Amino acid sequence: MKAIEISNLTVNLNSLEVLKNINLSLDEGKFIGIVGPNGGGKTTLLRVILGLIKPSSGNVLVFGSHPEVVLRKGNTFGYLPQILKIKPNFPIRVVDVVMMGRYGKIGMLRWPKERDMEKALEYLSIMGMEELKNKPFGQLSGGQQQRASIARALAGEPRILILDEPNTGIDVIGQEDFYHLLNGLRKKINITIVMASHDIGAITSYVDEIACLNYTFHYHGNPLGALNETILTELYGKNVDVLMHTDICDKCERLRRG
Ligand SMILES: Nc1ncnc2c1ncn2[C@@H]1O[C@H](COP(=O)(O)OP(=O)(O)O)[C@@H](O)[C@H]1O
Ligand SMILES: [Mg+2]
Repeated sequence: MKAIEISNLTVNLNSLEVLKNINLSLDEGKFIGIVGPNGGGKTTLLRVILGLIKPSSGNVLVFGSHPEVVLRKGNTFGYLPQILKIKPNFPIRVVDVVMMGRYGKIGMLRWPKERDMEKALEYLSIMGMEELKNKPFGQLSGGQQQRASIARALAGEPRILILDEPNTGIDVIGQEDFYHLLNGLRKKINITIVMASHDIGAITSYVDEIACLNYTFHYHGNPLGALNETILTELYGKNVDVLMHTDICDKCERLRRG
């Protein structure tokens, strides 16, 4: 079953063409990284998949249905937007943040049941956060908040987890652990993951596929194939020198040596 099928997608926002001729076919259970520079259209593409932005032309299907239908049905998407909207001083425990992710399942007028709490704790534990369940969310480190937020996104038991630059504002140390953890999720729960990132270097060892997006796809396929100077120059322009001579070269070498 295809989780996502996009054909000839074009998107105009306020008469600016933001995405052009996007084609993507993603199998259920895959982990795809959408990489590209700021302003390249990653968030827009995610919002189209989520049914929040209408295509100007082309066709988008999520598990065979139109995204706005999927969105209305609920429970298909777990979404972690680029900016978290919880104020640091807001007095809410970690476990309550995760429970917020079950409101779609619980229904706004129902009291949470024992099973809801069990599920919240299960996802906290999958994210390695169970011991911090009673801590105020605002007292967690950036990386811990990120993990708790993923537990919240998973708590609604979605079929597709959509992450928009989950590492923005988080220190580099621990990032690879985080990607590793995401990758391992698929062995624990049956889920498809779509992650946008401007960081092409770190994710290549963990994703199944990479799509390089700057207005249109400059590459889509095996992650190793994306680590190519021509593609990277198309994506990032002359800044590619900086990328090529640091992170990515190391990564290429390590991957080539296996
Ligand atoms: N609501 C909007 N109206 C007009 N232009 C927009 C809107 N949202 C985003 N854009 C433009 O679309 C382009 C892609 O933005 P975005 O999808 O946020 O890229 P990314 O997430 O890769 O940084 C940018 O040029 C941005 O300025
Ligand atoms: Mg974005």
